[in-house]
Amino acid sequence: MPLIELDAAGVAVATPDGDRVLLEPTTLTLTERRVAVVGANGSGKSTLARMLNGLVAPTTGAVRVDGLDVRRQGAAVRRKVAFSFTDPSAQLVMPTCVEDVELSLRRHERSAGRRRDLALAVLERYGLAEKADVSVHSLSGGQRQLLALAGVLATDPDVLVADEPTTLLDLANTRRVGDLLLGLDQQLVLVTHDLALARRCDRVLVVEDARVVHDGEPEAAVAAYEASVLG
Ligand SMILES: Nc1ncnc2c1ncn2[C@@H]1O[C@H](COP(=O)(O)OP(=O)(O)O)[C@@H](O)[C@H]1O
Ligand SMILES: [Mg+2]
Repeated sequence: MPLIELDAAGVAVATPDGDRVLLEPTTLTLTERRVAVVGANGSGKSTLARMLNGLVAPTTGAVRVDGLDVRRQGAAVRRKVAFSFTDPSAQLVMPTCVEDVELSLRRHERSAGRRRDLALAVLERYGLAEKADVSVHSLSGGQRQLLALAGVLATDPDVLVADEPTTLLDLANTRRVGDLLLGLDQQLVLVTHDLALARRCDRVLVVEDARVVHDGEPEAAVAAYEASVLG
Protein backbone atom coordinates (compact mmCIF):
# COMPACT_ATOMS: atom_id res chain seq x y z
CA MET A 1 0.00 0.00 0.00
CA PRO A 2 1.11 3.61 -0.55
CA LEU A 3 2.47 5.44 2.42
CA ILE A 4 0.52 8.57 3.28
CA GLU A 5 2.19 10.71 5.91
CA LEU A 6 0.77 13.79 7.59
CA ASP A 7 3.56 15.40 9.52
CA ALA A 8 2.04 17.99 11.85
CA ALA A 9 -0.05 19.06 8.86
CA GLY A 10 -2.66 21.69 9.67
CA VAL A 11 -4.74 24.21 7.79
CA ALA A 12 -5.55 27.73 8.93
CA VAL A 13 -7.27 30.32 6.75
CA ALA A 14 -7.98 34.01 7.02
CA THR A 15 -11.69 34.81 6.96
CA PRO A 16 -13.49 38.16 7.21
CA ASP A 17 -14.17 37.29 10.86
CA GLY A 18 -10.52 36.57 11.60
CA ASP A 19 -8.24 33.59 11.33
CA ARG A 20 -9.82 30.19 11.45
CA VAL A 21 -8.24 26.77 11.99
CA LEU A 22 -9.85 24.18 9.69
CA LEU A 23 -7.56 21.39 10.82
CA GLU A 24 -5.26 21.47 13.83
CA PRO A 25 -1.71 20.21 13.17
CA THR A 26 -2.19 16.48 12.66
CA THR A 27 0.32 13.65 12.59
CA LEU A 28 -0.81 10.41 10.96
CA THR A 29 0.65 7.60 8.88
CA LEU A 30 -1.92 5.85 6.72
CA THR A 31 -0.88 2.51 5.24
CA GLU A 32 -4.08 0.50 5.60
CA ARG A 33 -5.94 -0.44 2.44
CA ARG A 34 -9.24 1.12 3.56
CA VAL A 35 -9.32 4.12 5.87
CA ALA A 36 -12.62 5.78 6.78
CA VAL A 37 -13.02 9.34 8.04
CA VAL A 38 -16.19 10.11 9.98
CA GLY A 39 -17.42 13.16 11.88
CA ALA A 40 -20.04 15.89 12.00
CA ASN A 41 -20.71 18.40 9.21
CA GLY A 42 -18.13 21.14 9.37
CA SER A 43 -15.68 19.17 11.52
CA GLY A 44 -12.84 19.26 8.97
CA LYS A 45 -13.18 15.94 7.10
CA SER A 46 -13.03 17.44 3.60
CA THR A 47 -10.10 19.65 4.62
CA LEU A 48 -8.21 16.54 5.74
CA ALA A 49 -9.21 14.60 2.62
CA ARG A 50 -8.34 17.42 0.23
CA MET A 51 -4.86 17.75 1.70
CA LEU A 52 -4.07 14.20 0.58
CA ASN A 53 -3.88 15.21 -3.07
CA GLY A 54 -3.07 18.89 -2.75
CA LEU A 55 -6.54 20.34 -3.38
CA VAL A 56 -5.90 22.10 -0.06
CA ALA A 57 -2.33 22.97 0.92
CA PRO A 58 -1.28 22.49 4.54
CA THR A 59 -0.35 25.81 6.14
CA THR A 60 1.76 24.05 8.78
CA GLY A 61 3.72 20.83 8.49
CA ALA A 62 3.78 18.61 5.42
CA VAL A 63 1.81 15.90 3.68
CA ARG A 64 3.68 13.23 1.71
CA VAL A 65 2.48 10.36 -0.41
CA ASP A 66 5.17 7.75 -1.06
CA GLY A 67 7.71 10.43 -0.21
CA LEU A 68 6.28 13.01 -2.63
CA ASP A 69 5.49 16.34 -1.00
CA VAL A 70 1.90 17.22 -1.81
CA ARG A 71 2.61 20.96 -1.87
CA ARG A 72 5.81 20.94 -3.93
CA GLN A 73 5.19 17.90 -6.14
CA GLY A 74 1.46 18.34 -6.58
CA ALA A 75 1.24 17.16 -10.18
CA ALA A 76 3.08 13.91 -9.40
CA VAL A 77 0.92 13.38 -6.32
CA ARG A 78 -2.27 13.88 -8.31
CA ARG A 79 -1.20 11.17 -10.76
CA LYS A 80 -1.03 8.82 -7.75
CA VAL A 81 -3.96 10.07 -5.70
CA ALA A 82 -7.36 10.39 -7.34
CA PHE A 83 -10.12 12.41 -5.69
CA SER A 84 -13.86 12.00 -6.06
CA PHE A 85 -16.48 14.49 -4.94
CA THR A 86 -19.85 13.99 -3.24
CA ASP A 87 -21.70 15.45 -6.21
CA PRO A 88 -20.63 13.57 -9.34
CA SER A 89 -21.91 16.42 -11.52
CA ALA A 90 -18.85 18.39 -10.36
CA GLN A 91 -16.74 15.88 -12.25
CA LEU A 92 -18.82 15.02 -15.30
CA VAL A 93 -18.30 17.65 -17.98
CA MET A 94 -18.55 15.94 -21.35
CA PRO A 95 -21.73 15.40 -23.41
CA THR A 96 -21.65 11.58 -23.32
CA CYS A 97 -20.48 8.99 -20.85
CA VAL A 98 -17.76 7.51 -23.06
CA GLU A 99 -16.38 10.98 -23.81
CA ASP A 100 -16.19 11.68 -20.11
CA VAL A 101 -14.03 8.61 -19.47
CA GLU A 102 -11.95 9.46 -22.57
CA LEU A 103 -11.29 12.88 -21.08
CA SER A 104 -9.85 11.22 -17.96
CA LEU A 105 -7.59 9.14 -20.18
CA ARG A 106 -6.30 12.03 -22.31
CA ARG A 107 -2.81 11.99 -20.82
CA HIS A 108 -2.74 8.26 -20.41
CA GLU A 109 -3.38 7.22 -24.01
CA ARG A 110 -2.48 9.48 -26.94
CA SER A 111 -4.19 7.48 -29.70
CA ALA A 112 -7.86 8.49 -30.00
CA GLY A 113 -8.85 5.03 -31.20
CA ARG A 114 -7.14 3.21 -28.36
CA ARG A 115 -8.48 5.79 -25.93
CA ARG A 116 -12.03 5.04 -27.03
CA ASP A 117 -11.46 1.29 -26.66
CA LEU A 118 -10.01 1.78 -23.19
CA ALA A 119 -12.90 4.04 -22.17
CA LEU A 120 -15.45 1.48 -23.40
CA ALA A 121 -13.67 -1.24 -21.42
CA VAL A 122 -13.82 0.96 -18.32
CA LEU A 123 -17.57 1.54 -18.78
CA GLU A 124 -18.06 -2.21 -19.19
CA ARG A 125 -16.21 -2.87 -15.94
CA TYR A 126 -18.58 -0.56 -14.03
CA GLY A 127 -21.76 -1.91 -15.63
CA LEU A 128 -22.26 1.17 -17.80
CA ALA A 129 -21.48 -0.31 -21.23
CA GLU A 130 -24.91 0.42 -22.66
CA LYS A 131 -24.67 4.04 -21.48
CA ALA A 132 -21.59 4.85 -23.58
CA ASP A 133 -23.29 7.18 -26.04
CA VAL A 134 -26.00 8.68 -23.86
CA SER A 135 -25.90 12.01 -22.09
CA VAL A 136 -24.53 12.12 -18.58
CA HIS A 137 -27.74 13.97 -17.66
CA SER A 138 -29.89 10.96 -18.51
CA LEU A 139 -28.20 8.82 -15.86
CA SER A 140 -29.68 8.12 -12.44
CA GLY A 141 -27.85 9.50 -9.41
CA GLY A 142 -26.31 6.11 -8.71
CA GLN A 143 -25.14 5.65 -12.30
CA ARG A 144 -23.71 9.16 -12.29
CA GLN A 145 -21.64 8.44 -9.19
CA LEU A 146 -20.46 5.15 -10.75
CA LEU A 147 -19.45 7.04 -13.90
CA ALA A 148 -17.57 9.68 -11.90
CA LEU A 149 -15.73 6.93 -10.03
CA ALA A 150 -15.04 5.07 -13.30
CA GLY A 151 -13.51 8.29 -14.63
CA VAL A 152 -11.12 8.81 -11.73
CA LEU A 153 -10.23 5.12 -11.54
CA ALA A 154 -9.65 4.80 -15.30
CA THR A 155 -6.01 5.86 -15.01
CA ASP A 156 -5.39 3.32 -12.24
CA PRO A 157 -4.29 5.64 -9.41
CA ASP A 158 -2.59 4.16 -6.32
CA VAL A 159 -4.98 5.87 -3.92
CA LEU A 160 -8.59 6.98 -4.18
CA VAL A 161 -9.79 9.68 -1.80
CA ALA A 162 -13.59 9.69 -1.92
CA ASP A 163 -15.39 12.53 -0.13
CA GLU A 164 -18.86 11.36 0.89
CA PRO A 165 -19.44 9.35 -2.30
CA THR A 166 -22.74 7.90 -1.12
CA THR A 167 -24.27 10.87 0.67
CA LEU A 168 -26.59 11.69 -2.27
CA LEU A 169 -27.49 8.07 -3.02
CA ASP A 170 -30.38 5.81 -2.02
CA LEU A 171 -29.85 2.61 -0.05
CA ALA A 172 -29.38 0.28 -3.03
CA ASN A 173 -26.90 2.60 -4.75
CA THR A 174 -25.07 3.26 -1.48
CA ARG A 175 -24.60 -0.49 -1.21
CA ARG A 176 -23.46 -0.80 -4.82
CA VAL A 177 -21.01 2.10 -4.71
CA GLY A 178 -19.82 1.02 -1.25
CA ASP A 179 -19.14 -2.52 -2.44
CA LEU A 180 -17.23 -1.17 -5.42
CA LEU A 181 -15.10 1.13 -3.27
CA LEU A 182 -14.36 -1.41 -0.58
CA GLY A 183 -13.47 -4.00 -3.20
CA LEU A 184 -10.83 -1.84 -4.90
CA ASP A 185 -7.24 -3.04 -5.03
CA GLN A 186 -6.14 0.55 -4.53
CA GLN A 187 -5.82 2.24 -1.17
CA LEU A 188 -9.06 3.99 -0.25
CA VAL A 189 -9.57 6.98 2.03
CA LEU A 190 -13.32 7.22 2.44
CA VAL A 191 -15.04 10.20 4.05
CA THR A 192 -18.50 9.00 4.96
CA HIS A 193 -21.57 9.41 7.16
CA ASP A 194 -22.46 5.80 6.45
CA LEU A 195 -21.26 4.07 9.60
CA ALA A 196 -21.94 0.63 8.14
CA LEU A 197 -19.44 1.43 5.38
CA ALA A 198 -16.98 2.85 7.91
CA ARG A 199 -17.19 -0.37 9.95
CA ARG A 200 -16.15 -2.35 6.88
CA CYS A 201 -12.88 -0.40 6.62
CA ASP A 202 -9.59 -1.35 8.25
CA ARG A 203 -9.13 1.85 10.24
CA VAL A 204 -11.44 4.72 11.17
CA LEU A 205 -10.51 8.33 11.97
CA VAL A 206 -13.06 10.41 13.87
CA VAL A 207 -12.81 14.16 13.23
CA GLU A 208 -14.34 16.67 15.62
CA ASP A 209 -13.77 20.43 15.81
CA ALA A 210 -10.77 20.37 13.45
CA ARG A 211 -9.06 17.51 15.29
CA VAL A 212 -8.71 13.78 14.87
CA VAL A 213 -10.17 12.76 18.24
CA HIS A 214 -10.21 9.00 17.73
CA ASP A 215 -8.19 6.74 15.48
CA GLY A 216 -8.26 2.99 15.45
CA GLU A 217 -10.20 -0.20 14.94
CA PRO A 218 -13.51 0.45 13.19
CA GLU A 219 -15.82 -0.91 15.90
CA ALA A 220 -14.20 1.08 18.69
CA ALA A 221 -13.87 4.25 16.61
CA VAL A 222 -17.46 4.17 15.39
CA ALA A 223 -18.67 3.46 18.94
CA ALA A 224 -16.65 6.44 20.21
CA TYR A 225 -18.17 8.65 17.53
CA GLU A 226 -21.70 7.49 18.26
CA ALA A 227 -21.17 7.99 21.98
CA SER A 228 -19.89 11.54 21.43
CA VAL A 229 -22.93 12.42 19.30
CA LEU A 230 -25.70 10.51 21.06
CA GLY A 231 -24.30 10.87 24.59
N1 LIG B 1 -11.47 27.81 2.47
C1 LIG B 1 -12.21 27.97 3.57
N2 LIG B 1 -12.29 29.17 4.19
C2 LIG B 1 -12.99 29.33 5.30
N3 LIG B 1 -13.69 28.36 5.90
C3 LIG B 1 -13.67 27.15 5.34
C4 LIG B 1 -12.94 26.87 4.14
N4 LIG B 1 -13.09 25.58 3.82
C5 LIG B 1 -13.87 25.06 4.77
N5 LIG B 1 -14.23 25.99 5.68
C6 LIG B 1 -15.02 25.76 6.90
O1 LIG B 1 -14.23 24.94 7.75
C7 LIG B 1 -15.01 23.97 8.40
C8 LIG B 1 -14.53 22.60 8.08
O2 LIG B 1 -14.79 22.36 6.72
P1 LIG B 1 -14.76 20.95 6.01
O3 LIG B 1 -13.39 20.39 6.06
O4 LIG B 1 -15.37 21.16 4.67
O5 LIG B 1 -15.74 20.10 6.95
P2 LIG B 1 -16.55 18.75 6.69
O6 LIG B 1 -16.07 18.16 5.41
O7 LIG B 1 -16.26 17.88 7.88
O8 LIG B 1 -18.00 19.13 6.64
C9 LIG B 1 -16.44 24.24 7.95
O9 LIG B 1 -17.05 25.03 8.96
C10 LIG B 1 -16.29 24.99 6.66
O10 LIG B 1 -17.38 25.83 6.42
MG1 LIG C 1 -17.06 17.72 3.67
